[in-house]
Amino acid sequence: MNGGKEFEGQCAVVTGGATGIGEAAARELARRGCAVCVMDIDAPGAERVAQGIRAEGGEAFPSVTDLLDWEATRQGVGAAHAWKGRLDIVVHSAGGFPQYVSLLDCPAEAWDGVVNSNLRSMFYLLKAAAPLMIARKYGRFVSLSSMAARSGVNPNPPHYTAAKGGVLALTRQAARELGPHGITVNAVAPANVQSPRAKAIRSPERLRHIAQTTPVGRLSEPGEIAEAVLFLCGKGAGYITGVTLDVNGGATMV
Ligand SMILES: NC(=O)c1ccc[n+]([C@@H]2O[C@H](COP(=O)([O-])OP(=O)(O)OC[C@H]3O[C@@H](n4cnc5c(N)ncnc54)[C@H](O)[C@@H]3O)[C@@H](O)[C@H]2O)c1
Repeated sequence: MNGGKEFEGQCAVVTGGATGIGEAAARELARRGCAVCVMDIDAPGAERVAQGIRAEGGEAFPSVTDLLDWEATRQGVGAAHAWKGRLDIVVHSAGGFPQYVSLLDCPAEAWDGVVNSNLRSMFYLLKAAAPLMIARKYGRFVSLSSMAARSGVNPNPPHYTAAKGGVLALTRQAARELGPHGITVNAVAPANVQSPRAKAIRSPERLRHIAQTTPVGRLSEPGEIAEAVLFLCGKGAGYITGVTLDVNGGATMV
């Protein structure tokens, strides 16, 4: 630790940094000394979070990047690396899904957008960031998966469930390949987080049901997921790789 500034001198890209879990992770990394590139397709949101970090005395810049676009992703990650001459951390929180839809009701044309924004984006980020991390023999890559990929008990959309399952498989494969280069690759699988999007797509009855059936008796705040993400981003987590950390109030226990 460094007076609470355990990430002092490091540089991170946080995707989905404009809101929710990504925003909470970006802000907390910056509070602990990390320079943060707030990457999102939402330009005003990324600007707001980067400004908020700077107002608190941290270092941040917004990167308006569409992670569906390989060339844009490569350039966005490259710009973050060029900013500080290093890239230590990637937190991949961009993704999600727009609305609950069942397997049978899911339109065929909805598949690609959800799978690509959650999963193909991870491949693009790994492909862009890993060579930069390998050059310094150090890196931390943490993706947001979901309880949707860990348990079939809750209703979840098929494209989202499949994409988040793919995130876990790709996490293991990347961990295996990048481990010898000093890079760890892990996933956090949250459930029932009170992010603005998640609040908007859950009915009051669903929210009550979640609180009643979750062992800790409530939904989580984005900051509680960010804590788990930051743990895996720390230097001290260097012997943890290829794992999925469930952060769900005990909703699944295996
Ligand atoms: N909130 C929950 O309950 C919950 C539960 C489990 C998993 N997750 C996962 O955690 C992550 C964060 O969720 P959240 O609810 O905090 O935030 P969110 O899903 O509301 O925000 C996602 C962010 O990703 C950005 N984004 C989407 N597509 C993009 C693209 N192509 N390029 C760049 N940016 C893009 C959006 O603009 C948005 O700012 C997501 O991956 C989500 O699937 C959330």
